[in-house]
Amino acid sequence: MVFLGIVPMTVVKAVILNSYEKRAVDVRTAEIQNQCTILCNQLGDLGYLKGKTSEVVKSELDQLSNIYDGRVMLIDREFRIVEDTYGMDTGKTIVSGNVIRCFEGKGISHYNAGNRYIEVTAPITGADSEKTEGVLLVSISTDTIADSLSVLRGKARTVEIAAVLILSILAWAAGSGTVRPFHRITRSIEAVTEGYDDNYLHENAYTETILLSEAFNKMLGRLKVLDDSRQEFVSNVSHELKTPLTSMKVLADSLLAQADAPVELYQEFMGDLSEEIERENQIINDLLSLVKMDKTADTMNIRTENINALVEKILKRLRPIAAERNVEVIFESFRPVSAEVDEMKLSLAITNLVENAIKYNKNDGWVHVSLNADHKLFYIEVADSGIGIRPEETEHIFERFYRVDKSHSREIGGTGLGLSIARNAIVMHRGAIKVFSQPGEGTTFTVRVPLTYVS
Ligand SMILES: Nc1ncnc2c1ncn2[C@@H]1O[C@H](COP(=O)(O)OP(=O)(O)OP(=O)(O)O)[C@@H](O)[C@H]1O
Ligand SMILES: [Mg+2]
Repeated sequence: MVFLGIVPMTVVKAVILNSYEKRAVDVRTAEIQNQCTILCNQLGDLGYLKGKTSEVVKSELDQLSNIYDGRVMLIDREFRIVEDTYGMDTGKTIVSGNVIRCFEGKGISHYNAGNRYIEVTAPITGADSEKTEGVLLVSISTDTIADSLSVLRGKARTVEIAAVLILSILAWAAGSGTVRPFHRITRSIEAVTEGYDDNYLHENAYTETILLSEAFNKMLGRLKVLDDSRQEFVSNVSHELKTPLTSMKVLADSLLAQADAPVELYQEFMGDLSEEIERENQIINDLLSLVKMDKTADTMNIRTENINALVEKILKRLRPIAAERNVEVIFESFRPVSAEVDEMKLSLAITNLVENAIKYNKNDGWVHVSLNADHKLFYIEVADSGIGIRPEETEHIFERFYRVDKSHSREIGGTGLGLSIARNAIVMHRGAIKVFSQPGEGTTFTVRVPLTYVS
């Protein structure tokens, strides 16, 4: 900023000083040329160079010399110096370019800035002839101009220094004022990094800082949500893992407490124990596939798969479970679909959906799976004639460990991880999953996945 201020100032200073010098020299030169013209006319008329002398002319030459603080010389055709107001070179010969050119009839003026003088030559023509009879050579010092210039320069320097000082102070004030809100933001962010409580940013000095604060607060909010869900997840996991263990402990303890329990009781309790172990195993398996899914978010194993065959395979595996409750599983394929998917992950998702449709169904109910596609996406729909989900529950069923109606779900069995896993898998394919349900009538899950995978 200071630099930006100084450059134009220096340029302006140089321009002003230069044009002052040029103008002063021009004015002085013009004055002298004028004087010379007048004198030359007089000298020519008098025939001064033809031997006639005049005290008047002499004194006029002296006057010119005095007024302008310079030297006046009169030179005749033989390049002899006839008059010299300095009286030093009278009678000597002078041969200079300017004098020679002047004899050709051209008056010349020349400014020598280095040696600080102006030289003016003017031709003297006789009264009767047009021929140049002599040359008037005036050289005057420009010391006065140089002096005024140096005074001006000094003044300009003072102004310049003052301006630099003022600009520096202004720049410092403006700069620190501009940066201060950002410093505050940095400090707040550092404070937040040490542990986020309710230390939200409120920096509203500029639009930029407001936007920055808002973006930061949004990110902080998201972090909090993530942190909360992580904590909730951990506590849910430990709770879920402990429940079967508690049951096992109770079963084992009550057997141990009876000294001579009948074999039948042993067998019954062992059966229960085995079930609890199976449940524990199921939870751990689900958790592992969820963790695996999170970990391999960027290592999708994408291949072009025949989706019809993939769905058929899943249904074949699940039909025996459906048969236990006499649930009919129907597959309707509208067209052959092949798509770029991770077979393992997509299978996991569809298996969970169909499993749920069978689990949360009525005896003698049905599950309807359909597959369709357009030029961009393929669609899988899993509809059932089951118990349905209440509208206020639908937004939660994709959460980890969330199960509708704990008591009822308890007897059906499950960990509440299935839909969370399914949604993860679909989202990793850049797809979407939606649920429509009517309590008591049935539920429909729709899945939509791009035919070509975009990483
Ligand atoms: N088709 C369905 N009909 C009715 N309720 C369903 C259906 N699918 C899911 N739900 C409800 O959503 C809850 C969450 O389902 P999710 O698949 O995530 O867990 P889960 O089936 O209980 O356990 P698991 O981890 O073994 O799959 C279920 O407990 C159930 O209450
Ligand atoms: Mg499930």
